Amino acid sequence: MDIRIPRGTQDILPGTSEKWQFIEAKIHDICRRFNYAEIRTPIFEQTELFQRGVGDTTDIVQKEMYTFADRGGRSLTLRPEGTASVVRSYVENKLYGSAVQPEKLYYIGPMFRYERPQSGRMRQFFQFGVEAIGSDDPAIDAEVIAMAMEFYKELGLRGLKLVLNSLGDIDSRKAHREALIAHFKPHINEFCSDCQSRLETNPLRILDCKKDRNHPLMESAPSILDYLNEESRQYFNSVKSLLDKMDIPYEVDSGLVRGLDYYNNTAFEIMIEGEGFGAITTLMGGGRYNGLVEDIGGPESPGIGFALSIERLLMALESQNVELPVTKGLDCYLVALGEEPAQKAAVLLTELRRAGVSADKDYLNKKIKGQFKAADRLQASYTAVLGEDELQKGIINVKSMERGEQKEIPLTEFTNYIREKMEEEK
Ligand code: HAM
Repeated sequence: MDIRIPRGTQDILPGTSEKWQFIEAKIHDICRRFNYAEIRTPIFEQTELFQRGVGDTTDIVQKEMYTFADRGGRSLTLRPEGTASVVRSYVENKLYGSAVQPEKLYYIGPMFRYERPQSGRMRQFFQFGVEAIGSDDPAIDAEVIAMAMEFYKELGLRGLKLVLNSLGDIDSRKAHREALIAHFKPHINEFCSDCQSRLETNPLRILDCKKDRNHPLMESAPSILDYLNEESRQYFNSVKSLLDKMDIPYEVDSGLVRGLDYYNNTAFEIMIEGEGFGAITTLMGGGRYNGLVEDIGGPESPGIGFALSIERLLMALESQNVELPVTKGLDCYLVALGEEPAQKAAVLLTELRRAGVSADKDYLNKKIKGQFKAADRLQASYTAVLGEDELQKGIINVKSMERGEQKEIPLTEFTNYIREKMEEEK
C-alpha cells in the first residue's frame, strides 16, 4: 500500500500541535480583548457564493477552487477563504439586525486552494480571520489593522512592515479602470495571456501579475491614488491619521491591489522583512468590502477584515528563532512494580487527573528501568514509585526529576501533594 498525504497538505504532529494550540489560545485571547466573537461556518459552500463573493475573474475562482458535485447534483466548493462565508452567514442569520453594530466576528479554520505547492503556499492552510460588518467609520479600519499588528508583536515577531493602499470607492475605481485600459491596451500583446484577458475583465489585476512585473508599462501605470475622489481621499486620510496617532508605522504602496474582487477603499498587507523566509513574505492581507453584503443579498452593510495563515506565522516565528512558551512535560509519572501496585496506580491516576494534574503510567508491563526511561522521555516533573512494600506501608516514593530530591508521602496525601507542588511551580 502506498497511500500518502495529498500534495500541499500536512500532518500536524505532537511536538508541533502544542505550538498550534498556543497560537489558537492567543487568537481567542486577543479577540476577547478586542471584543470579536467566534463564528464557525461550514467548510464547503455553494460554489456560487465564491463566484459572486470572491469574483468570477480572480485567480482563486478561475484556477484554484476545489469544486465538486454532491450526490444531489449541487455544485459545492471547499471554501478558499472565510470572508464570503461569514458574509453569507451574516445575511442568512440576519445578524445585521442584532442590537450592537458593527458585528465583530472572527474565525479559525482550514481553507483550500489548488495552488502550486511551495514553502508558505499550501493547498490546505489554516486562516485566522476577523470581519467587522456594519460600520464605515475609519476607526474600525484602524482597529482591525492595529489588532493584526498587535497579534504578531505579542507573539514576538520582529521586522514587520505594514503596507497600506486605498482602492477607492466604486466611482474612483471606475475612473481608474478606464485609465488602466487606456494605458495597457496599445501594448497588451506584449503581456501574458492572463493579462490579455484581464484587460477587459479586471485590469487592476494586471498590476499584480508575476510574469509581467518587469514590463516598463507597469512602472508608469496610472496610480489609483491619483484617481480617488474627494470622499475616498478623505477616508484614506482619516485611516492614516488614526494609525499615526496609534503609533503604527506603515508604508503606502499604490501597487497593492489584493487578489480578491470585493475590496474598496482600505487595503492592507503585513509583510515580513529579513532573510531566511524565502520568496513569500506576505503574512496577512485584508481590506474593506462595502458592497459585498449587498452582492450576497443583504442590506447595505459596509465591512472590513483581515486573514492570516497560521502556517506562514509559524514559518516566520521559526525564521526568527522565536520559541513559543509551550508547556512541555507531564506533571507526574507513576512507576508501579507488581500487580497490586499497578492496580492502585490506576486509581491514583484517576485522582490526580481529577485534581487537574497531568499524569500517566506504564501499560506495557515494563521493568523499573523502562518505566523510568518513559518518565524521562515524557519529561515528567515528578515520578512516583509504588511497590508492594510501599503499598503495605501506605506510602509512595515521590521524586522531583528536576531537583533529584526524594520523599515518602502517605498515599492519602499524595494527590494533594502533587497538586500543590505543580501549582507552586506554575
Ligand atoms: P488572502 O490575501 O487571499 O485574503 O489571504 C490572506 C492570508 O492567508 C495570506 O496573507 C496568507 O497569510 C494566507 N494564505 C493565503 N493563501 C495561502 C496558501 N496557499 N498557503 C498558506 N497561506 C495562505 C483573504 O483570504 C481575505 N479573505 C482576507 C480578508 C478578510 N479580507 C477581508 N477580510
